[in-house]
Amino acid sequence: LASTEVDLAPIAEGSAVTVMWRGKPVFVRSRTPAEVQEARAVPMSQLPDPATDQSRVEKDKWLVVVGVCTHLGCVPLGQKPTDPRGDYGGWFCPCHGSHYDTSGRIRKGPAPRNLAIPQYAFTSDTKIKIG
Ligand code: FES
Repeated sequence: LASTEVDLAPIAEGSAVTVMWRGKPVFVRSRTPAEVQEARAVPMSQLPDPATDQSRVEKDKWLVVVGVCTHLGCVPLGQKPTDPRGDYGGWFCPCHGSHYDTSGRIRKGPAPRNLAIPQYAFTSDTKIKIG
């Protein structure tokens, strides 16, 4: 399928779901206000791959990223609040220890780039279409 529709309504705040898009996992995360605030408070100088949180989301609450570590392609952990999420509260890649923040940006470890943002659009308040 060229595009995938995702219903956001069942995604609990603070959690993410994984959907498949073009054979790749895509994470859709409902961020808490604290997670959004954390993502926005980071100085660009602390980011290996500088990007503002605002440039990475359509709506503050919803982070949509390709769930493929930019080091060697493992799938990072962090969908549930109880999963290992690394030192920056986003995702943790267990393969070689890359830590991503609540904007999906690389903060520590061997991965060179932020988690990629797929092309997507809101089709309603509670639905997105990826691709
Ligand atoms: Fe994720 Fe190496 S593949 S840290």
